[in-house]
Amino acid sequence: MDQYIIKGGNPLVGEVEIGGAKNAALAILATAIMTDETVTIENLPDVRDINVMLNAIEGIGAMVERVDAHTVRINGSMISNLTVAYEYIKKIRASYYLLGALLGKYKKAEVALPGGCDIGSRPIDLHLKGFRALGAAVDIHHGLISAVADTLRGTHIYLDKVSVGATINIMMAAAMAEGKTTIENAAKEPHVVDVANCLNSMGANIRGAGTDVIRISGVERLHKTDYSIIPDQIEAGTFMFAAAATRGDVTVKNVIPKHLEATTAKLIEVGCEIEELDDAVRVVASKPLHHTQVTTLPYPGFPTDMQPQMSAVLAISEGTSTITESIFENRFKYVDELTRMGASIKVESNIAIITGIEKYTGARVSAPDLRAGAALVIAGLAAEGITIVDDIYYIERGYESFHEKLESLGAQIEKVSTEKEIQKFTLKVS
Ligand code: UD1
Repeated sequence: MDQYIIKGGNPLVGEVEIGGAKNAALAILATAIMTDETVTIENLPDVRDINVMLNAIEGIGAMVERVDAHTVRINGSMISNLTVAYEYIKKIRASYYLLGALLGKYKKAEVALPGGCDIGSRPIDLHLKGFRALGAAVDIHHGLISAVADTLRGTHIYLDKVSVGATINIMMAAAMAEGKTTIENAAKEPHVVDVANCLNSMGANIRGAGTDVIRISGVERLHKTDYSIIPDQIEAGTFMFAAAATRGDVTVKNVIPKHLEATTAKLIEVGCEIEELDDAVRVVASKPLHHTQVTTLPYPGFPTDMQPQMSAVLAISEGTSTITESIFENRFKYVDELTRMGASIKVESNIAIITGIEKYTGARVSAPDLRAGAALVIAGLAAEGITIVDDIYYIERGYESFHEKLESLGAQIEKVSTEKEIQKFTLKVS
């Protein structure tokens, strides 16, 4: 089993390039099958979740040609199978985007129902509510969701809760429905806008993405496009917090600073200096950091996907901080691991109360999920001594060349898989 071994204590210094947004890419790959023409997608992150999604797309009979690590061509003209198997959903929930894409294009789709996941129970009732409102008959039997319609008809849909997944899935189906659809209380995340832009470049007619009312005029057919995915705001934010935790000076490049405003605001509150450039953000953490309060919220609020990384910083910032997790019910699983590294964090319901300590001490810890895994790496980079992070499989789902990028900023980190490699690293750094 692969692990990261880290000798902490080096401030991260330098520049790092951010890749394409994983969560935008997962949905955009699904939209690519909605035309019979060839779609080229660029700036694709080369991470495990994306590769699973590409397998799922091949699994329904679409042609997938990997041009290079970050570019793929997809042709959906040969799709022969409208059922997406459980093996894909089990690995990535986001393969449910094929439900909206297939339903829009073929008016029929079957996708295995996703189960719970590492950060809590994650219902998809709003996705199904949207499909039903568009006129599809939606059934769940033998673990499969089946959605079928003679005709999808545009309608007015109000989402009871702001949901990224439901907004995108409904938007995809509605893009090829008859007439006009309005989605109210829509998610405003940058990747919702990116998916809408990609669909529009394929001939769809979607307005208002990025606001809470999205208006879609259905079209009969979509066509080819060449589309480049937006930068990953969560990858960028993770490096920004790593810079803060190690009291470093890092410029994250190839980002859209506007998408990072909530993260930037919190870093300024704790005492970092931030310089915003056109497509880069520099984080300088030269002074002692102090406490703050954070609540996760839908965009433009503070992202739940940055919550564990923010905790990793607050745990070594002076004073008492609180983090309120308002999106997912089980997103504090990393707290016990940070505690093993000396952190003082108490969780009461959905609030973590963090009393800042001076320093982490390196320990052996396990990544409980993707973003929590990144938070443990951040703690390891700031810790005194050696940290080993197990289960980095989770981290590799969403971060491309994570340890190489950190190494290029001066971190002492390696990917290892044997006791001998651990000993070799320990000798090297001691
Ligand atoms: C997406 C992101 C995930 C991020 C999350 C919130 C992808 C692949 N994943 O997940 O990384 O943490 O947005 O920014 O893009 N809900 C319902 N019913 C539904 C759908 C959602 O009750 O039908 C609830 C969820 O349980 C949660 C909240 O709505 O409490 C927000 O979830 P949602 O925005 O849908 O998250 P995902 O799209 O699954």
